[in-house]
Amino acid sequence: MLDLKPRQDELEPIEVASRDEIAALQLDRLKWSIRHAYDNVPHYRCKLDAHGAAPGDMRSLEDLGRFPFTTKQDLRDNYPFDLFAVPREQIIRIHASSGTTGRPTVVGYTRHDIEVWSDVMARSIRAAGGRAGMKVHVSYGYGLFTGGLGAHYGAERLGCTVIPVSGGMTERQVQLIRDFEPDIIMVTPSYMLAILDEFRNQGIDPRASSLKVGIFGAEPWTDAMRREIEDSFDMHAVDIYGLSEVIGPGVANECVETKDGLHVWEDHFYPEIIDPVSEQPVPDGEIGELVFTTLTKEAMPVIRYRTRDLTRLMPGTARSMRRMQKVTGRSDDMIIVRGVNVFPTQIEEQIFRCQGLSAHYQIELTRSGRLDDMKVLVEARPEGAAPEARDASSKELAHHIKSVVGISATVDVLEPDSIERSLGKAKRIVDKRPKD
Ligand code: DLL
Repeated sequence: MLDLKPRQDELEPIEVASRDEIAALQLDRLKWSIRHAYDNVPHYRCKLDAHGAAPGDMRSLEDLGRFPFTTKQDLRDNYPFDLFAVPREQIIRIHASSGTTGRPTVVGYTRHDIEVWSDVMARSIRAAGGRAGMKVHVSYGYGLFTGGLGAHYGAERLGCTVIPVSGGMTERQVQLIRDFEPDIIMVTPSYMLAILDEFRNQGIDPRASSLKVGIFGAEPWTDAMRREIEDSFDMHAVDIYGLSEVIGPGVANECVETKDGLHVWEDHFYPEIIDPVSEQPVPDGEIGELVFTTLTKEAMPVIRYRTRDLTRLMPGTARSMRRMQKVTGRSDDMIIVRGVNVFPTQIEEQIFRCQGLSAHYQIELTRSGRLDDMKVLVEARPEGAAPEARDASSKELAHHIKSVVGISATVDVLEPDSIERSLGKAKRIVDKRPKD
């Protein structure tokens, strides 16, 4: 794989600034952001007043803990536009995330917000090894989802040639990669596996493709998946994180030279980790729920937004800004099987240990009596698809899950291509338990 580490002079000064400089900028911006939300959004004014917190209380970074949290419910309650802090005419873009239930979550951007988003996305792509002049194939969905347009504007900002393919039509994705020879692909990791299968179906060697870097996010994925993609394509696989409520993709990104967690672009998004039960902040290094306060967002500032994503904060390495560990799950996706907490990524890690299995999988939950049962549906690789081989893989995976994760799961090894491919985020959990 190529050495794509950016030169020091290619970085923005803030990426290598001292911690004191970063903290001073954060405090100034936090004061502005909280004041802006309080003065312009009735919801924040009521919430802060009820909590006994005033914008003037924000005197040091520690004071942020005095302010109330914002949750997805607050966004739903103010659907569609009541959290906007500027007149509607100044909003130049709307995005929304569909969510699994209920109303979508709506977000808005001023022209300045789109500029900031483009800048942090350009920074993310550069951290991943991108440079002006490279070709970027974008397979994140275009539309209300923030993935496609977020990647698009960032790649343009960096000076790349953007190929806005969007998701779907996998055969054509492969065709375009072969014909246009992009350097970078931006797509969900699960859909990258579908593209990989298509290369193989067509008898084309993925290692011979032009791709040098993949920037993968929008869903949890493991280091085992990274190895699979890197080896299969002879390319770097780098993690990108973000969420619509905070801006979209480009809140944090891994650096290609270290791949040791995602640097949070702390000059625009202030991270905290809290204990999700006591709701108290925990020190850096401890796992908990990630919470963000936006520092520069005009259209829709969020104060202490609870992401439900579980991770920990670590000191910077390739950049001065702190890193967050790869998000391996969100609290909503935690499954409790007979008293043991499990995330789909823990099952994914075990699947990668089995030679005969591919990483297309789903976890089906059912209930017998009062206990929950877990069935893992996973596809055999073409070379492991014979009945005896599938049977052996099934036993092997059940054994790994029992001995490493600590639960008894039924494993169904299916023929290749039996699990529906998602074009964006993979649906890992199929919950067939009765709703109580
Ligand atoms: O998924 C934004 C995005 C697009 C990020 C493209 C990266 C690439 P939402 O649809 O609002 O926005 O979903 C946000 O997706 O709270 C996480 O639970 C999950 N997520 C996003 N990136 C990662 C990642 C976009 N790298 C939600 N690892 C977040 C794990 C991720 N989970």
